[in-house]
Amino acid sequence: MQVPFYLALLLSPVLTSSLKTLDSDQELQDSGFGRPPPRHGLKLLAWYVQRCLDNNMASLCDPTRGEFGFHVFLNRGPSRLLPLIRDKRQYGYHTVGNLHARHAEDLPYEVKRYYNRSDPQSNMDRVLVRYNNNNRHIEQIYASAHYNATGTFIIGPDLVASLRRPTAFVCAEMW
Ligand SMILES: *[C@@H]1O[C@H](CO)[C@@H](O)[C@H](O)[C@H]1NC(C)=O
Ligand SMILES: *[C@@H]1O[C@H](CO)[C@@H](O)[C@H](O)[C@H]1NC(C)=O
Repeated sequence: MQVPFYLALLLSPVLTSSLKTLDSDQELQDSGFGRPPPRHGLKLLAWYVQRCLDNNMASLCDPTRGEFGFHVFLNRGPSRLLPLIRDKRQYGYHTVGNLHARHAEDLPYEVKRYYNRSDPQSNMDRVLVRYNNNNRHIEQIYASAHYNATGTFIIGPDLVASLRRPTAFVCAEMW
């Protein structure tokens, strides 16, 4: 049976994500993600890349064990935020950055600094990761302003490389 091209597109299981990719310091800045204080997303993202990833994207933190307040992100609902995962044994989404979560107190001072329970802005940012349970690598990083699609971005490989440099933190100090 011949499937019309447009239908084939509609039926394609590999739907491309509509989320925007940020792939440079400039794009990160222009996105407005995670700043200014009391938002904590920029510090959180830089910390995550420097503390929890090696140069080959192997995970140095275990997001499945709750450290730093990591927990499973269910990615449910009609307006599913992230691409659907079919193989749930091998892959899962995990989120970090809720300063109210258990073990979030282990995050560094710079990340928690402006946290104020009465100010939702100070706790709206998250880092989400797509984790491969088999080889323990991170396959995708997302930065999200509290799970809102317009505030959610894919963090591209060049930006990850840039955030690895210790000066990324210094730059983040400049706003
Ligand atoms: C915490 O947030 C509330 C509500 O925005 C504000 O009134 C209060 O001054 C803040 N506290 C501190 C210590 O910044
Ligand atoms: C979603 O995020 C964008 C950008 O951060 C913001 O402008 C918008 O107001 C947010 N929408 C809701 C419903 O919170």
